[in-house]
Amino acid sequence: MEAVILHGGQGTRLRPLTHTGPKQLIKVAGKPVSQWVLEQIRDTGIRDVIIVLGDNAPTRVVEYYGDGSKFGVRITYVYQGKARGLADAVYKVKDVVSDKFLVYLGDNLVPYDLSKFSSFKGSASILLAKVNNPNRFGVAVIKDGRVVKLIEKPKEQISDLALVGVYGFTREIFDVIESLKPSWRGELEITDAIQGLIDRGREVNYEIIQGWWKDTGTPKDILEANAFLLDRYAESRIEGVVENSTVDGRVIIEKGAVIKNSVVRGPTYIGRDTKIINSYIGPFTSIGDQSEITDSEIEYSVILDGVKIRGVTLMDSLIGNNSTVEKGGRWQKLIIGENSSVIL
Ligand code: TTP
Repeated sequence: MEAVILHGGQGTRLRPLTHTGPKQLIKVAGKPVSQWVLEQIRDTGIRDVIIVLGDNAPTRVVEYYGDGSKFGVRITYVYQGKARGLADAVYKVKDVVSDKFLVYLGDNLVPYDLSKFSSFKGSASILLAKVNNPNRFGVAVIKDGRVVKLIEKPKEQISDLALVGVYGFTREIFDVIESLKPSWRGELEITDAIQGLIDRGREVNYEIIQGWWKDTGTPKDILEANAFLLDRYAESRIEGVVENSTVDGRVIIEKGAVIKNSVVRGPTYIGRDTKIINSYIGPFTSIGDQSEITDSEIEYSVILDGVKIRGVTLMDSLIGNNSTVEKGGRWQKLIIGENSSVIL
């Protein structure tokens, strides 16, 4: 069995971070979202992984994951290009999968044991979670232990079981996708494909997950995912240098990092070769590699790689690679890209 990770999409809700690369490579708690996915798949015992690439810097994805050997899997790449919908992305793997395969949205985190799900019965199976606001999701109607209908963003209260981003398919899905028409938003929808299986009298099963899961489509989702992953997985590990500083709780400090005259409170992640000087780094913060934080206070934030922050207090912030944030004099001086959000 293979697992397919969808790595395309437009990522409009995460602009400007997605102007330079796919959202699935945004690091939370020290790793790209899609690496958390890949490692979960590997830990389920699946070794053959197919990554479907979009048109947003696909070479960055190939450079990062390579042939998969560094991560204990074998990776095959398939190119989708323009985002024409999840069903279009799934169709692209037709020539490289066997009879049964899993599909995992590369920007979703579903820390749930997939071992039973991966041996699903029938033509397809979907993972579902109970939600309070079903009108914002695709939902499934269940009858006699089977999925009988899928509805996108239902207006009426018909089911509170939302689809989370993991699917099990057999090759039958390809026949249905061949007959699909684009939806009102011009995409081939995976919910229409699964509905097509049901309409042809095929068996579609499901599993209901308990606990936390997240679709990391927006900046707020990225911050929440970072906090959850740090809370669940961060262990104290200090490989960098700590000088004249207090490090409390579960804090990961990678090799080459230097913490000087500072306070760091976990759960927190500090990346390789990053410098924290005269600063306070509070809980639920991840700081990437080769960043420099001086005379600042930061809490509940995700700071990516190569960032320079001087003399500021930040909370609930998401700062993209190679950005600079610093305090000026009485006048604020800003160079802001498209679709940015700044609160001063
Ligand atoms: P979405 O988050 O639904 O779509 P998007 O990436 O275009 O984001 P936005 O709405 O902010 O513009 O996509 C869900 C997942 O599926 C995500 O991991 C991207 C992936 N995807 C593809 O690989 N190919 C596609 O054609 C689409 C639409 C999504």
